[in-house]
Order: sequence, then C-alpha cells, then structure tokens
Amino acid sequence: MTSTPITYRPLTSDDIHQMIDLLRQSHHQEARYHPDYPSFDAFQASLGRQLMRLVKECGGWAALRRGQLCGYMIGVEIGELFGKDQGLVISAHGWSVQGSPRARIINDLLVHVLHDAVQHGHTSIAWTLSAHDRLAISVARDLGFGNRCADAWRTTHVGSTRETAYRIERLSPSQLEVIAPLHQAHNRYYRQAPLWMPNPEEDPLEDLKGWMSSEDRWIWAAFDQDHAIGYLRTQAHAESYLSHHPQLRNITAAYVDPMFRDRGVATALLNQALHDLHENGITWCGVDYETINPSGSRFWSSQFKPYTISLTRRIDERILGLDLLNP
Ligand SMILES: CC(C)(COP(=O)(O)OP(=O)(O)OC[C@H]1O[C@@H](n2cnc3c(N)ncnc32)[C@H](O)[C@@H]1OP(=O)(O)O)[C@@H](O)C(=O)NCCC(=O)NCCS
Repeated sequence: MTSTPITYRPLTSDDIHQMIDLLRQSHHQEARYHPDYPSFDAFQASLGRQLMRLVKECGGWAALRRGQLCGYMIGVEIGELFGKDQGLVISAHGWSVQGSPRARIINDLLVHVLHDAVQHGHTSIAWTLSAHDRLAISVARDLGFGNRCADAWRTTHVGSTRETAYRIERLSPSQLEVIAPLHQAHNRYYRQAPLWMPNPEEDPLEDLKGWMSSEDRWIWAAFDQDHAIGYLRTQAHAESYLSHHPQLRNITAAYVDPMFRDRGVATALLNQALHDLHENGITWCGVDYETINPSGSRFWSSQFKPYTISLTRRIDERILGLDLLNP
C-alpha cells in the first residue's frame, strides 16, 4: 500500500484556522514537559492576528495531505542578522508540522522557505524550535544549524532561600545612575570571547532611562555596603509568543560585577524579583539568553526550564548571483 503523497504550495489566508490547530498541537507537545505551562487559549486570538499578518506580508509554505494542512513554515526577512548578511527568522509560531513522515515534511518545508530566502538574498538564518522537539532539532542539526539562544521559564514561586550578605533594592527611575557603570560593563561583556557580539558603545544612563520609560519595567540592584555590584531587570514583553502572557514578566538583563560572582548575588537578585512579581499577581517569569554565553547560560539553565531553542545557520553567501534550481 502506498501512502498518500504530501504536496506543497504557498500559504494563503484561508489556511489560518488549520495553522492555529497545528500550532496548538505543538504547544501541547512542549507543555507535556512543563507542569503549570501557560494554556494555549491565552494566545490563540493574538496568534491568529499575527499569523494572518505573516501570511500576507511574508508568504510561507503549506504541506498538505488529502487537502488537509499537515504543516506550514513562514520565514520573516529582517535585514542584517548576526553580521552583514541579510537575515531570515523562522519563529516558534512561524512553523508547525504534525504530519508523517514528520522529519521529511520539516525538511521539505525548510527547503522551500530557504530557497525563497536565498533567491531574495538572505543567507543568515535563525530558526526557533520547541526545546523538547528532538526530531526537529535533529533535522536542523543535520542541515548545519547550531545553537544560539534559548527561551526559558519558571513560576514566580520561590522556595526556601539562602541568607545573602547583600542588600537588594528595587530602583526608581531617579536611582538609575548607581547601576550605569554596571550596565556599561554588561554591554561590553558581550564583545568578549567566546561571544564576540559587536555591541556598539552607548550612553548607559540614557539607555537605562529610555528603557525604563515604558510601562511594566522593573529593575533591582544588589549592594555591597553602598556600592552597586549587580542588577537584574524585567519587562512585560519579549520575543517569543509565550513571553506576551499578561501574567508573565521577562528578564531582559542581569549582570554581576566579576569581583562578586559565584557568591549568590544573581540568585539573591532573582529571588527578590520573583518574590516582588509574585506579590503583584505575576505567575510566571521568562528569560531568553544566548546559549553561546557560558556564564549566563549556566545560570539561567539552573534556575529556569527552556521551552524553545533557536538555532542558526550561515549559508555560503557566494551562492548569491548564481542560478538557483527549483526544489
Ligand atoms: C550570569 C551572572 C549574572 C551570574 O551571577 P552570579 O552572582 O555569579 O550568580 P550566583 O552566584 O547567584 O550563581 C552562580 C553560582 O554560584 C552558586 N552560589 C549561589 N549562592 C552562593 C553562595 N551564597 N555562595 C557561593 N556560591 C553560591 C550558585 O549555585 C551558582 O552555581 P552553579 O553555577 O553551579 O549553579 C554573572 O555570571 C554575570 O554577570 N555574567 C555576565 C553577564 C551575563 O552573562 N548575564 C546573563 C545574561 S543576561
């Protein structure tokens, strides 16, 4: 008996309902690894709108069996990405594959999406996958993708904590000056090996003030006597769709003076932040971090549980300008 063939065609806005159904299944599959994971219902309406916009603006590909959608993938062109090459991002909600043979369908959709990307001059690719989707991760690795970042989460419940010798304080906008030197050191930290992220120089105080001028932005500092030695900040939205949950806040920076590392300063900052968020009715806390950052990656992965990982690939840019054969 031969199985029904899978066919591929560009996505249309008529596919949105089936796309949401596939995404719901992906969400439930990842949720199995996370007790207390936020429910998909909280995101459904906004994801519907986002997917409609993505299909209209970015196109994307559908995989069908017997006329039913069994997979889709959309890449978003975003300009320069991790260097001077033009980038394409396939976000966590930008794809889902539930049909069988799943590895083959993922591979074929990716080939269609990347074929279009390269035709438009995009050779730096980032792809976000569910952290526990071993099959898709293995497809990505076989195709030359490597680790770059992760999104992780936890509840804001804090169990018993160790005593800390350091004072932790939530800062008001008028107190930001005390952490400006730490914020500058944090920005420069990313230029070091093995990160080599070329962060441009910035005025740290202006940057902090600009950041804090939006709503729902909180920042805590740790002090040794009166000297600020570390900080951690949270905000309402980050990049993943889960990060937009109204009862979730996202950590978008944490830094501890190298002289005070491994003494529990970041742990004390985190515990205070979680405690304050919990007191204010926030149930979950998220963080996205570079997996290519050993100190940050070690800290976050010990305190939070990853739910997505983002992998990247640089396609040899010399392919541009040559005739591409159709997939
Ligand atoms: C990531 C970072 C913020 C962690 O700060 P930190 O203050 O050193 O973190 P902690 O001391 O709380 O935790 C680090 C280790 O010390 C241990 N520790 C915790 N409390 C301790 C204590 N009282 N005494 C000794 N060790 C302790 C922790 O268990 C942890 O061990 P582990 O790595 O084996 O899990 C810091 O390394 C840093 O600033 N890195 C550069 C910037 C960065 O990467 N930021 C994160 C990305 S935004």
